[in-house]
Amino acid sequence: MSVTPADPGLAPDIDPAWLPDEALRAVGSRRVRVDGEGPLADTVRAEAAYACERFGGRIVGPGDRPDLLLRLADDSLGGEGGEGGEGGGSGGNGEDCPRHPEGFTLHRTLDRTTVTASAAAPAGLLHGYFHVVRLGEAAFTPAPAATHRPALTPRMLDHWDNVDVHPVMGQVERGYAGGSLFWRDGRPRDEPHRIRAYARLLASCGIDALAVNNVNVHATEARLLTDRLDDVAAIADLLRPYGIRTHLSVSCAAPVLLGGQATADPLDPHVRAWWRETADRVYARIPDFGGFVVKADSEGQPGPFAYGRSHADGANLLADALAPHGGIVHWRAFVYDHRQDWRDRTTDRARAAHDHFAPLDGEFRPNAILQVKHGPIDFQTREPVSPVIGAMPRTRIAVELQATQEYTGQQWHVCALAPMWSQVLRFRPHGEDGPGVAGVAAGDGGGRGGGGGLVAVSNAGADPFWTGHPLAQFNLYAFGRLAWQPDADPASLLDEWIELTFTPNRTADPDRLRAGLRHVVGGSWETYEKYTAPLGVGFMVQPGHHYGPSVDGYEYSPWGTYHFADRDGVGVDRSRATGTGYAAQYGKPWSDTYETPDTCPDELLLFFHHVPYGHVLRSGKTVIQHIYDTHFEGVTEAEAARALWASLKDLVSPARHARVTERYEEQVRCAREWRDQVNSYFLRKSGVPDRHGRRIH
Ligand code: GCU
Repeated sequence: MSVTPADPGLAPDIDPAWLPDEALRAVGSRRVRVDGEGPLADTVRAEAAYACERFGGRIVGPGDRPDLLLRLADDSLGGEGGEGGEGGGSGGNGEDCPRHPEGFTLHRTLDRTTVTASAAAPAGLLHGYFHVVRLGEAAFTPAPAATHRPALTPRMLDHWDNVDVHPVMGQVERGYAGGSLFWRDGRPRDEPHRIRAYARLLASCGIDALAVNNVNVHATEARLLTDRLDDVAAIADLLRPYGIRTHLSVSCAAPVLLGGQATADPLDPHVRAWWRETADRVYARIPDFGGFVVKADSEGQPGPFAYGRSHADGANLLADALAPHGGIVHWRAFVYDHRQDWRDRTTDRARAAHDHFAPLDGEFRPNAILQVKHGPIDFQTREPVSPVIGAMPRTRIAVELQATQEYTGQQWHVCALAPMWSQVLRFRPHGEDGPGVAGVAAGDGGGRGGGGGLVAVSNAGADPFWTGHPLAQFNLYAFGRLAWQPDADPASLLDEWIELTFTPNRTADPDRLRAGLRHVVGGSWETYEKYTAPLGVGFMVQPGHHYGPSVDGYEYSPWGTYHFADRDGVGVDRSRATGTGYAAQYGKPWSDTYETPDTCPDELLLFFHHVPYGHVLRSGKTVIQHIYDTHFEGVTEAEAARALWASLKDLVSPARHARVTERYEEQVRCAREWRDQVNSYFLRKSGVPDRHGRRIH
């Protein structure tokens, strides 16, 4: 049978990330049959053909016996599937045909591995194929049948990409991976092979939705909705074969900016008509368009407040325009006063999203999703889980993560975020008996009628390694995998990523390579936390770009990001009894847990409380000694990671090794700067010497 191999879009100058040819060996050395019609089945067939071409396997037709059979099955055979089975949260009962539109069933017998997806929903075939790729040889050993389905939908990346180069933010806002994959200097980048290769990587880790422009919608970007829609359609055409829907960030002021309307008031009938007609035009051009992403009344973006309307009014306006086409609006909850007076101790930025949105629970349309940042402030290295997530049982909630490392080392530092994300997803806002954050995003509990899924701000760009720092690829991979299976163990995901990306078995010393990578990536979030802002207090970064230390950088700023250090102590009192009352925004038991320093977890102590430097932590150390010790330790760990990476030189490709080596030089330099500035600051404020007498400046 002759099938054209896929061109996975890899130019020699683009890193294959977790899909090097070598990762396809198990599939590619077998006889593979793909039964099924349609674009996604064609993609799978072409992918398999590409793998076979490399490793001597063969695409076989209906008359031949395949080792791997990927097939669409008649839905009438379908079963609901159950729990358990391999893959943790996505297991099943072995029925032939999963009903979830992206689900699939895997049968592994002695003579054949079969992936079955519903004929009505061939996306399962694609996810099933990449599941087999991930399993590698293990996919061809017998195991009980299991049905897999994603826990969360959508699993979406937001690209904060500008079409025009922004004078301050550049091509990609908070982008640390070169230019945009989609745009360059006001035009489409016109590198379809790169976008296609990106789509392939994303599909292979489970991502199924993508917003192509920045949530801060400037003038040129606003026009993507109307006269520049063709540019969006061209991207959608490249993402579609990999089961990824295209979404667009839009401006609430669009009716005025683009439509010549006198107002953008969400309740104005002309405004409503304009959005309906505009959405109709979008769907006429892109029939599987995903929907809109909106940042409103936030950091200068327009919104419903200008017209005395609520955020439910604003979100519902767009939801109604999208509803006839099955589209959704992701309405962001990141609303706060970024012009506050630092002298005003009653205003607390952490409270803002809950204050604005919790009273609106139940007012949003079924296709309006409230997209909530995982923490109440802004993607700090350590934050509590946002109380909004547990406070709106009648609203569809999406949880927003930040893969781009704005506050976590900007892809110059290794900072693997999967352990943090896993903690967030497992957190139970109502205690042991209620759903976890992942359950809320899945739509469990309450009358919300569906979940909102998981979103991450993408960390990828036109950099040949996709993410600037090659080890930051793990953040992208882990995001997709956790969105599919939120209870996955981050350490197992790291192993999975290591096997695919570095194919250790093809090197001279697989165990040394595995152990080395586990070490430098696995604990990197804790290391980063140690040398930056202590005990959950956050910020202390340089204003504007947010890289490197500046302890008082935001202390007297209007952005609401303070630590209140004085000669006696440090931290923000957010208790109900004596502070801003933020702790009371949580349900029980957390409102009690966070209320007092005695019960508050130490890693969040300074987020919730202002304590004296002599306050004793559970470790037995005082806060001030903890600050000194962790900052020394963090630098030592970064130096050790750098040395360990150097020792892997013989096992890693030269280009990748060199890039990471270069980044470690900067990480260690910057970590030392953090250590010395933070320790000197607190020594000078407190006057308390380091009990080990180390040199502090
Ligand atoms: C942060 C970030 C901004 C971004 C904003 C958002 O504040 O620094 O660049 O626009 O988050 O999430 O909207």
